[in-house]
Amino acid sequence: MKVVEWRGKPVWILRRTPEMLASLKKNDEKVADPNSDKFFQIETPAYAKNETRSRKEHEEVLVVVGICSHLGCSPSSRFATGAQPNLPDDWNGGFLCPCHGSTFDLAARVFKNKPAPANMDVPPYMFLADNRILIGKDEKGEA
Ligand code: FES
Repeated sequence: MKVVEWRGKPVWILRRTPEMLASLKKNDEKVADPNSDKFFQIETPAYAKNETRSRKEHEEVLVVVGICSHLGCSPSSRFATGAQPNLPDDWNGGFLCPCHGSTFDLAARVFKNKPAPANMDVPPYMFLADNRILIGKDEKGEA
């Protein structure tokens, strides 16, 4: 995972393994908004309104504003799976907000019954090359 700054906010770029992507399906029933019909501050781009919340051609790459939709803390990564403090025993990897305990999966989708009301935002982005991403702009224009 790489963290960059965009408009004063942390943007996380996470390359997920095939196992990590497979784990998202297991979470569909447990997350509050599986296909990102709602959003926090940035309307979800159409290409991210899916289970992986990513572009089809680079499904493994998640680009997300790393800010919790509850009161704006920055969640910490908890990529290890299984039982551990403050997380459920069947944890598949994701993020934990240290402020009030909201949990997010590896697509930054918030789990049900947590204080955060929405998934973390996916900003507009596009690939300029396989290893180069432009954040804040896509085919529809600039955010
Ligand atoms: S700010 Fe993240 S749970 Fe409250």
